[in-house]
Amino acid sequence: MPDNDKSSDDKKDYGIGVPMKQHGFFLKGSAHLGWGVKNRLAQIFNPKSGRTVMLAFDHGYIMGPTTGLERIDLVVPPLIKHIDCLMCTRGALRTCIDPTVHKPVVLRSSTGATVLRDLSNEVIGVTLAEACAMNAAAVTTQVCIGADYEKETLANISYLINEGAKYGMPVLGVTAVGKEMARDARYFSLACRVIAELGAHFVKTYYCEPGFDEVVASCPIPIVIAGGKKLPELDALKMAWKAIDQGACGVDMGRNIFAADDPIAMAQAVGAVVHKHESPEKAFDMYNTLKNKKSEK
Ligand code: R5P
Repeated sequence: MPDNDKSSDDKKDYGIGVPMKQHGFFLKGSAHLGWGVKNRLAQIFNPKSGRTVMLAFDHGYIMGPTTGLERIDLVVPPLIKHIDCLMCTRGALRTCIDPTVHKPVVLRSSTGATVLRDLSNEVIGVTLAEACAMNAAAVTTQVCIGADYEKETLANISYLINEGAKYGMPVLGVTAVGKEMARDARYFSLACRVIAELGAHFVKTYYCEPGFDEVVASCPIPIVIAGGKKLPELDALKMAWKAIDQGACGVDMGRNIFAADDPIAMAQAVGAVVHKHESPEKAFDMYNTLKNKKSEK
């Protein structure tokens, strides 16, 4: 039986006259989502800057031991404190990442292809129950617009979105680009918009010029950019800066961090560009300072 607290009635404070705060949400296109999805998105994106540095290290699921990522267990753990989010396969997570880490995980959930075959021919290989069991903050698959298996990849992401809705699980849609596709604003606008309209919560695409600002403007959900092939560090920082400047909400970067001369310094330099919009030149100075400090030790 609850206590009869009549005696303290006159001590209660109902805050009469103070309107209850109506919480908005800081991410583009996300205001009408449910609490669980928003909570997960707020783990991935820093609510203060509205941005994220995701470390992508899911390359092995199609490419095997990618250069720079031959030993996930040695390369990734020292980077974790310098990034906001891990993006990887469940196998990499289970085998190489300490479960005590307090960083959200975006779980690669597709399978069915390798670099030896048609990369668009994928299926979903991770159930939503498994993603929840692994405490994922989001699940992801790629969409191959214009490829032979376009329809299948659209079905894959729709499946994740439908199943994810039952668990409050956000979905990241990745715009995969076939060798024969033009990596231009027209293509990326199409791919990003399709992914958003199907109901994904955020999208990963590539930076392109000219017209990246148009890709962002016509996509009603947050965009993060992939890094793509390894570039000289200053060029990678310039690319990240331009993407942020034109409205991207962060990066999901792999090779340009883990295959950098100094991955830890690069993760911090990318973080300065993404969260503080530090100029690429200053971020590169920071990179060199951190790198040189280490080599002096
Ligand atoms: C490809 O295997 C994955 O989708 C990667 O997560 C993506 O390409 C980002 O990694 P990177 O910055 O190396 O392109």
